Amino acid sequence: MLEVKQLSVSFGAVRALDSVSLVVPRGEVTAVIGANGAGKSTLMRTLAGLVKPVSGTAELDGVVVTGRSPEDIVRSGMALVPEGRSTIPELTVEENLHLGGLWRPSAERKATSAEIYEMFPVLAERRRMRSDTLSGGERQQLAIGRALMCDPTCLLLDEPSLGLAPLIVTQILQLVSQLAREKNLAVLLVEQNAVTALRVATTGIIMNLGNVVRVGTAEEIAADDELRDAYLGS
Ligand SMILES: Nc1ncnc2c1ncn2[C@@H]1O[C@H](COP(=O)(O)OP(=O)(O)OP(=O)(O)O)[C@@H](O)[C@H]1O
Ligand SMILES: [Mg+2]
Repeated sequence: MLEVKQLSVSFGAVRALDSVSLVVPRGEVTAVIGANGAGKSTLMRTLAGLVKPVSGTAELDGVVVTGRSPEDIVRSGMALVPEGRSTIPELTVEENLHLGGLWRPSAERKATSAEIYEMFPVLAERRRMRSDTLSGGERQQLAIGRALMCDPTCLLLDEPSLGLAPLIVTQILQLVSQLAREKNLAVLLVEQNAVTALRVATTGIIMNLGNVVRVGTAEEIAADDELRDAYLGS
């Protein structure tokens, strides 16, 4: 379980996160939704160790990760799929996957990549192709696959649906929820696309201007029209 306690982040005068607390249980998807500038990416980047918080902590299965280096945080089981996918265009699918979990013994890495190719058959078909020849949906699968190469217990996904066709989004998010269940991962899914995210999530968390404004079951949040109008503009 990932447990975030009163996490605050400032960029100069901007308080991007204001004492954010939340829990992300293993085996399910927790969706954080909110409009532009709500602080969603800042939350993810802080959890991954890329941004230093001014106060507060994050614990992964009882171990404090805040204050540690990004490499250390990955090794402790937290893997980020950043906004914009960030696979390396000049490298092949195989090479991109190889970059995930470089520190792991090669036999373990091979076993994990075999699992990933099984989970994402299109990556197996294209393993020797450069990643810039992939479609957006395939690149998103590669980005998730690369994160899984670290053998994480917690997966952070920042807007995986951005720029993808609705059908592809549904497929990818369904795969993510299956992953959460089958691999017992704590999945934190950040989305502006509330409807899609809440369909695969167990819990929904609404953020606005650096604050958590509401936590509820995904059904409750999805059914609350007022909430959607107030914070999501859709
Ligand atoms: N590196 C940075 N330097 C200065 N301000 C930043 C930085 N990163 C984020 N911010 C500010 O922090 C606030 C939260 O931004 P963040 O990117 O976390 O929002 P978001 O919810 O991910 O938005 P979006 O839906 O547009 O991706 C915004 O006001 C943003 O301008
Ligand atoms: Mg963002």
